[in-house]
Amino acid sequence: MSQFRVKPTLCQIDSCKAFCEQFEVGKGDLILTNPTYFEGFFDGCADGATVVFLKKYGKGEPTDLMVEALYQDIKDLEYKRVIAIGGGSIIDIAKIIAQETISPVVDLFEKKIPTKKTKELIIIPTTCGTGSEVTSVSVIELTVRGTKLGLQTDEEFADYAVLIPELLEKLPFRFFATSSIDALIHAIESYLSPKANPFTEMFSVEAIKLILHGYQEIVAHGEAARNEHIKEFLLASTYAGIAFGNAGCAAVHAMSMPFSGTYHVPHGEANYVVFTEVFKVYNRLAPDGKIRILNELLTSIVGGDGSDVYERLETLLSAILPKKTLKEYGVKEEELAVFTENVMTKQGRLTANNYTPLSKEEVYGIYQNLYG
Ligand SMILES: [Fe+2]
Repeated sequence: MSQFRVKPTLCQIDSCKAFCEQFEVGKGDLILTNPTYFEGFFDGCADGATVVFLKKYGKGEPTDLMVEALYQDIKDLEYKRVIAIGGGSIIDIAKIIAQETISPVVDLFEKKIPTKKTKELIIIPTTCGTGSEVTSVSVIELTVRGTKLGLQTDEEFADYAVLIPELLEKLPFRFFATSSIDALIHAIESYLSPKANPFTEMFSVEAIKLILHGYQEIVAHGEAARNEHIKEFLLASTYAGIAFGNAGCAAVHAMSMPFSGTYHVPHGEANYVVFTEVFKVYNRLAPDGKIRILNELLTSIVGGDGSDVYERLETLLSAILPKKTLKEYGVKEEELAVFTENVMTKQGRLTANNYTPLSKEEVYGIYQNLYG
């Protein structure tokens, strides 16, 4: 059985200009991006390429409506390569438009249309969080079905994942914080996943070290210090993507889903709200399993004697991104049971990777502790 795979060719390139030269960007290329990333970085070095700004089709998380509207505009264009320059939404949609048949996108996601990648796909992330440049999954909201759905197939792997640190230098601190915390959670959840193996663990551990050490530098020297470490954060995000792309994420992602979906809280921020509380419960339920090794690693970074490792971790993380209670997001107490039901019945893809099984009562208890 396959334990580990990294399909895209990985490249680190110092500047967008150098990328355009090395990849000979121009005619035959469809660049999916937004003005924030394109202007100032790619102006004048991508002549001849067709540039499409996703914001024209809507804001926020990707939907089937956005994909269908975009498809109408690009269906008669000739392009051989799709180049995605952006965050999670742009990357997820680029994986779709590299397919031979795109519409109706609902049929693609419900597997009535087979996936078959007919365009070369190059992904350039502009946040340090999703790890989506190295995974084979895209998630969109199917408005016709009233739910988010993920499509995972080998046909969605990029051919190249290109890391260009300069693109992240203008990322607002809040986006930097939510995306890098998401990457940290990818690394930690995948480390404890039952599907973890020595190959994924190596990437998880390295990502954890890079991100937490980077946070300590920011706490010590101020927000501007992140740009000195942005290359490491970008690398860590890709490492974490490699780890969770092979070993999976678990309860933290599962429990954040209904909350972030209902209250439109950014993915990384919603994961952060749930994160340490889930791990405190894991630690209580199965303290002698693999979590001991994780706790030793975390303690070696955050200090202490190990007894309060998650409190110390929370102190470090809250210096990067203040944490709010569910109540502060407007969640009503009666919704905690609805969220719990969603986790128990709809998030099995993720909860199958839990370090130790969490009962309905335990999931509800975690939400209660987070409520405020
Ligand atoms: Fe995530």
